[in-house]
Order: sequence, then C-alpha cells, then structure tokens
Amino acid sequence: MKHNLREVCSHFTIYGDFIIGVPFGTGHINDTYQVAFDQGGTVVHYTVQRINHNVFKNPPALMENVERVTAHLTSKNLGKGGGSRKTLRVIHTTDGKNCYQDPDGNFWRCYVFVENCRTYDILETEKQAFEAARAFGKFQGELVDIPGGRLNETIPDFHNTPKRLANLEESIKLDKFDRVKNVQKEIDFVMSRRDDCGILLDLHNQGLIPERITHNDTKLNNVLIDDFTGEGICVIDLDTVMPGLAHYDFGDMIRTGTSPALEDEPDLSKVTMRFNMFEALLRGYLAGGNGFLNEVELEYLPFAGKLITMEIGIRFLTDYLDGDIYFKTHRNNHNIDRCHTQFKLVESIEEQMDAMKMKVKETAKEYKA
Ligand SMILES: Nc1ncnc2c1ncn2[C@@H]1O[C@H](COP(=O)(O)OP(=O)(O)O)[C@@H](O)[C@H]1O
Ligand SMILES: [Mg+2]
Repeated sequence: MKHNLREVCSHFTIYGDFIIGVPFGTGHINDTYQVAFDQGGTVVHYTVQRINHNVFKNPPALMENVERVTAHLTSKNLGKGGGSRKTLRVIHTTDGKNCYQDPDGNFWRCYVFVENCRTYDILETEKQAFEAARAFGKFQGELVDIPGGRLNETIPDFHNTPKRLANLEESIKLDKFDRVKNVQKEIDFVMSRRDDCGILLDLHNQGLIPERITHNDTKLNNVLIDDFTGEGICVIDLDTVMPGLAHYDFGDMIRTGTSPALEDEPDLSKVTMRFNMFEALLRGYLAGGNGFLNEVELEYLPFAGKLITMEIGIRFLTDYLDGDIYFKTHRNNHNIDRCHTQFKLVESIEEQMDAMKMKVKETAKEYKA
C-alpha cells in the first residue's frame, strides 16, 4: 500500500485499535480509504482521505468550509432519527485540527464512515435523479442560515460565465495553435448567445437572487444512497463547497443528469435533454429544499441548465484553442467532441425552455414551504 494508514490514523482522535485500511470507492480526485478500528470489541469504520493538493491549493481553507458546513448540517439533523448518517462528521486530529499534514506535505482528513449505503456512478433512473436532487436541495436549503459570515471562496470565479467568455475571446485573439479556423461555427454559436452569459450575475447584482452555499460537484456519485430505502441520505465530497448561486448546482444537475449520452459522445443524435429526467430533478430539488428559493430563483432554474451547459462548452472550446492543456484529452479533437455535446444539449434545452418554465411554475406550487 502506498500510504501507512496506521501511522496516519494515529494523528486522529480515533479511539481503539487500528485493524486494517483499504482503498475505497471510485473517486478520481482524492485518495480514499476505509479504515477499521476495534472499539471495545465492536468494529467501527472511518473514511480517511488524502486531499489532492494539486487540485485544491489550500486544504486548510477548504477544510474550514467543510467543518463549518458539516457542523451546521449536524445541528439540523442530529437527534432526528438516523441523523448521524445524514451528514459527514469531521474527526479532529490529536492537536485539535481538522486535517493532518504528514512529513511529505500531504493533507489528510478523517470522517465517520456512513454504513449501509453506497454511491452509483451512472445516473439511469428517474428515482435516482429525484434522490440526488433532493439531497442537494436539502443541503442548500439547510445551509441558508449558516452562521459566521461568508465561506472561503476556494476556487474564485468558478462559475463566472462572463469571465469564461472573456477567456474564450482572449484565446480566439491569440489563436496560438491556428485552430480558430476549425471552429468558427462553434464560436458563432457562443457569440450569438453572449448576452446570456451575464444574466444570473446581473440578477444577483440587482439583489434579486441571493448568494447561497453551493456544492459545485452535484454528481450522483457524491450522494450516499441508503442500501435499504434507496433514499439519498448524505451529501459527500465537500471540497468545492463555496459561496455561489443556487443555479450553479441545479444547472449542473440538468447538464449531467438529463442527457443519456456521455460527455464526449461523438454521435450527437444521442444527446438530448430528457424532460422526464428534468422533472425528476426539479421535484427532488424542490422537495429537498423545502421552499427556500425565492420567485426569481425559481423562474431561472431552467435557464440555469442552459447557462451552465454553455459555460462548460465554452471551457472545452477555449481549451481546444489553447492546445488542450487543462482537460485531459485521449484523442484528436476530444475537446471539440465535448464542446459539441454541450452545445447540442444547450439547443435541446432551448427547444424545451417554455415547457420547462411551465413545469417549474406548476411544480413550485406543490412544494411551497
Ligand atoms: N463518510 C463516508 N462514508 C461512506 N463512504 C464514503 C464516505 N466518504 C466517502 N465515501 C466513499 O468514497 C468515495 C470517494 O469519496 P469522495 O469524497 O467523493 O472523493 P472524490 O473527491 O475522489 O470523488 C465516495 O464515492 C463514497 O463511495
Ligand atoms: Mg466524489
């Protein structure tokens, strides 16, 4: 094994004898282990993770967010049947910190392991869409009144679409790899929608939609699903929790949850916004959120899907022009294939926008607080 987990664990306030540690889950970012301890004859598990500090540059700031968020969620859930499974619980180090830095510079953290649940990598059913969205809606809703001021903005401008557009324009101007000529159609696609890019931030600046706390990685495999009930019980992977707009999370759920195709599917006829999946996400999100969204936030939920999908498409297009340096590519024009699926999905959302808005209007009435 790459890491000495017994040694790592000795720096955390875990009672009992270390038994074993094994790699766990299918996450791609951090190194995740499940460790087992003997506590008075009972085996108790913990999740121990090495935070990927190449991706996350400031683990202590990140962990400060995680700790504030989980403490607040715990205060809302503990004591209400099964509450200890509904939020991650940070275990402190023996010197009272929320993570441990080893002599090689790695940052480690430890959570209570949530038993009898699992994650799914591929979203296939309406039930899964509903459960994932409900978990993320509940997560955002429960965090609206977190005390203690603004969270750390660990990745500044993460969903600043106008800035992403400006980056694209810069790359077009530089045209370092002489590729602009290959993607004029894609560039025109963006430019004809450039006014969309600032809409959410403008609404925020006008005071019409508030800053919220967002998860920023709302994939199905970041929700623990109960083995017995199939319910989404606990939101995990809190590395990107930050201040943001509610739409960033819901928009990304539409982007990743409604199309049956892979992000780099070359056959664009497979890419489409499936209305039934949109409705399942919407219902889940509203049910979990329990009425925290204001009227303007509600109105712009479908648009969020369009905007976030376009934003990611813009990033793929920009990376193609920059010579494929940010996203890992495995074939020629890989970033362009990815850009095409995003733009196809944008079109599919545009075609169904009126029906989506109507659905939000109808459905929101059912889930009023
Ligand atoms: N507290 C926990 N209890 C149970 N399983 C967990 C817990 N934390 C993480 N996992 C499992 O480990 C996997 C990877 O964790 P995650 O935090 O999502 O890492 P990554 O950022 O690498 O995706 C998850 O998909 C989940 O299966
Ligand atoms: Mg994950």
